[in-house]
Amino acid sequence: MYILLMGPPGAGKGTQAERLIEKYGIPQISTGDMFRAAVKSGTPLGLEAKKHMDNGTLVPDEVTIGIVRERLAQPDCRKGFILDGFPRTTAQAVSLDAILRELDIRLDGVIQIAVPNEELIQRTTGRLICPTCGATYHIVSAPPKQEGICDKDGSALYQRDDDREETVRQRLEVYGSQTKPLIDYYKNSGHYVEINGLQSMDAVFDDIVSALEKND
Ligand code: AP5
Ligand code: MG
Ligand code: ZN
Repeated sequence: MYILLMGPPGAGKGTQAERLIEKYGIPQISTGDMFRAAVKSGTPLGLEAKKHMDNGTLVPDEVTIGIVRERLAQPDCRKGFILDGFPRTTAQAVSLDAILRELDIRLDGVIQIAVPNEELIQRTTGRLICPTCGATYHIVSAPPKQEGICDKDGSALYQRDDDREETVRQRLEVYGSQTKPLIDYYKNSGHYVEINGLQSMDAVFDDIVSALEKND
């Protein structure tokens, strides 16, 4: 199963990817997570990415396309993958097409999770993340059993640096101008589906799975 998960910041891409990994046993390729890991280990890629992430702007295409190209060539991607947060510009979409052609892969679904901006601000500013297992929580809609602690491994949860309201507004702006136009790029591909992301997490997941299995 080769899946592309699209949608604005906070739409639920990471949340749904966690469930899709479990259902299909395929890796999630999140450029945001890859950049955050590089920032944490202080590599040159991390230093470059951090400048852009902290401002809520995009990491340059050459850098981003390079890491995705390398990642998709890994053996664990042969049976499928979930792309989360890539592509985000037309140049990235065009490069992805070329990479997929080289690897002889066809996407099974391009899933757009649609959520209005005001809800996205609530979701991002209330999000909590586990530094150990990457699980995502929300202070209101998906709280951990014990405040501030991961249910799975007991780690202390943290808030992302770019989840402050001003940065989220900037990210939404960048999404509108640079990424939203990709809907038109994929709309005619036949495997494009828009899902109502305002539903419960379970209902969104059910809609994604039905869309993917209908395409088979
Ligand atoms: P990235 O990490 O990809 O962030 P994003 O796209 O802004 O998306 P998020 O991770 O914020 O949201 P999500 O859709 O995963 O939502 P989640 O499931 O967590 O990118 C970060 C930065 O990296 C970018 O700004 C850029 O600088 C750089 N970058 C990354 N990729 C790049 C690229 N390709 N090119 C250039 N630069 C790039 O859910 C959010 C919250 O809502 C959670 O708290 C969750 O519990 C809750 N929630 C989820 N679903 C529901 C629901 N159905 N109902 C109620 N609450 C829900
Ligand atoms: Mg995410
Ligand atoms: Zn955890």
